[in-house]
Amino acid sequence: MKNVTVIGGGTMGNGIAHVFAQYGYEVCLVDLSTEILDRALTTIGKNLDRQVAKGILSEEEKTATLQRIHPMTDLREGVAGADLVIEAATEQIDVKLQLFAELDRYAPGEAILATNTSSISITKIASATKRPQQVIGMHFMNPVPVMKLVEVIRGYATLDAVCQRVIDISRRLDKVPVEVNDYPGFVANRLLMPMINEAIYALYEGVSGVEEIDTVMKLGMAHPMGPLQLADFIGLDVCLAILRVLHEGLGQPKYAPCPLLVNMVTAGKLGVKSGEGFYKYTPGSKELVVADRFRQ
Ligand code: CAA
Ligand code: NAD
Repeated sequence: MKNVTVIGGGTMGNGIAHVFAQYGYEVCLVDLSTEILDRALTTIGKNLDRQVAKGILSEEEKTATLQRIHPMTDLREGVAGADLVIEAATEQIDVKLQLFAELDRYAPGEAILATNTSSISITKIASATKRPQQVIGMHFMNPVPVMKLVEVIRGYATLDAVCQRVIDISRRLDKVPVEVNDYPGFVANRLLMPMINEAIYALYEGVSGVEEIDTVMKLGMAHPMGPLQLADFIGLDVCLAILRVLHEGLGQPKYAPCPLLVNMVTAGKLGVKSGEGFYKYTPGSKELVVADRFRQ
């Protein structure tokens, strides 16, 4: 297996392309426009620079990694020679169903079609294809070059051999695969999102402020980021989409998204990727500044 295609070059797709290319795979990176792809390549370049600065990679390895990433906007061309496709497009069921129907049409018959979905049923996504036995969840964590975990999720029809291949590939990328079953949010987000949602409720109900809530979890529970900063980092639109899948799929009121989260996404405040969420983000600055709306 040598040729990998990543669909979507956003927060996750650029990290997934980065890691596969770093480990020697040829990677086609497909997104909707050249501007988005340029941004993805700039991000990958910056993250490779961090690895060079830390001595993880040499300058030559950085250059070779970038040369193995081939950006393109034509999905049909992008998947034509793929052994493995990893879909990392927007967390919306309609987007995924349409993409998987196209992937099934244009990718080679023996290719594995994986999705990086955070929460959506793998069995449902597989139903858009005529090869559900080759469809699987390969759920990387953010930031992909740093986080070790890959949740591996079989759909109803996924073959054991396909699952084993994805486990082997994850290990080859120096990741730790964990197999989980196909239920809403799998394990990672079934546990993480209720915590994030509860932190947003605590803010919404005036229990405490943004920095205070995050400080409690950072210094009290040794989390590397507080839940509100983590929500910004993941993307508030992604958090909302996941909570809606949990709420609808598990049918319990405890998963209902906080109205403040809904309002922020409606207002276009999506966190790091839009420049503002619970905090404000200035490119190049590592300072954590609470958004004006939440200053006390
Ligand atoms: N690419 C490459 N390297 C990166 C990187 C990236 N995108 N981001 C950070 N790094 C590296 C840094 O170079 C640094 O390396 P060293 O340890 O060798 O010095 C290291 O990671 C730590 O980075 P920083 O010093 O810049 O910052 P930090 O100490 O605050 O760590 C962090 C950053 C690793 C992101 C840390 O804050 C963290 O672990 N946060 C929580 C992340 C998390 O919970 N992720 C899961 C999100 S949920 C999810 O992904 C599932 C879903 O479906 C929503
Ligand atoms: P994002 O919004 O940052 O990026 C999504 C990208 O997909 C955008 O660049 C968009 O232009 C592209 N896209 C949308 N429709 C497309 C299409 N038809 N063809 C090609 N590209 C298309 O989202 P993200 O945070 O990178 O999330 C991507 C996937 O990864 C989602 O399923 C999400 O749930 C999952 N995920 C996200 C995180 C996270 O922390 N953000 C972590 C793990 C998994």
